[in-house]
Amino acid sequence: MDLVSSRKFVFSDERYTEEVNIPEIAKAEYGMYTWPCAPVLAQYVWHNRSLIRNMSILELSAGTALPGVVAAKCGASVHFSDCREFPQCLENIRRSCESNGIQRPIIHGLTWGNIDHLSDLPHFDLIMSSDCFYDPHCFEDLIVTIACLLEMNNDCKFICSHQERDSSWNIEFLLHKWKLKATRIPLISFHGDSSAIAGSELPGNHTIHMFEIVLST
Ligand SMILES: C[S@@+](CC[C@H](N)C(=O)[O-])C[C@H]1O[C@@H](n2cnc3c(N)ncnc32)[C@H](O)[C@@H]1O
Repeated sequence: MDLVSSRKFVFSDERYTEEVNIPEIAKAEYGMYTWPCAPVLAQYVWHNRSLIRNMSILELSAGTALPGVVAAKCGASVHFSDCREFPQCLENIRRSCESNGIQRPIIHGLTWGNIDHLSDLPHFDLIMSSDCFYDPHCFEDLIVTIACLLEMNNDCKFICSHQERDSSWNIEFLLHKWKLKATRIPLISFHGDSSAIAGSELPGNHTIHMFEIVLST
C-alpha cells in the first residue's frame, strides 16, 4: 500500500464548519492526489451549499473527490466517476468517501469519449469536475462527453475549475462544434480567490479559472 498522507480541508463561515480529510497515494497517477483546482471547485460548492442541497450531482473524473465529498456532506446526492480503465482511481474515490462518513458511495467508471455508458446514468441537476482539461489530446473526447451529458439532462449545467498551464490551449472551436457555450465565474464571487482555501496550502500560486458550460441552443 502506497498510502502516505491525509490532507485536511476545513470549510467554514460564521455559522457552519465542515471538515474533510482526503487520503492521498504516493503515485504519479493523476487521480491519486488533490490537484490545486479541487479546493477551488469545493469552495464553489461550499459557498453555494444552500442551492446544491438536495441536488443530484455527478462529479466527473473525481480523483480524490474533494468537491463531491463536500457536496455530499452539504446534503447533495452525489454520484462520483473516474476513468473506467483506472480502477485504482475508482478505489481512491471510495477511500475518500469512506474517510468522510459517506458509506456505499455510488461510483461510475466513465471514460471521456465513451458515451455508450452514459445512458445507464440517472438524471443529474449539476455536473462538475476539477482539472479535467489538462491534456489537449483528450479535449474533444471530454467535450463530447460533457455535451452528451448536458443533452441527456434537461436544465443541467457543467461547472469546472481549470488550471492554466499553457495559454495557447483553446477549446473555443470545440465548444462551438459541439454546441456548447462557456461563461467564466469570477473566483472572487465565491471566495475562491485565496491561495489557501479551507486552511490548506492549495491552490497556492497556480492560476485557476472557473467556468460554467451549458448547451448553446
Ligand atoms: C488532473 S487529475 C484531477 C483529479 C481531481 N479532479 C482533482 O482535481 O484533484 C485528472 C483526472 O482525470 C482522470 N482521467 C484521466 N483520463 C481520463 C479519461 N480518459 N476519462 C475519464 N477520466 C480521466 C484522472 O484519473 C484524474 O482523476
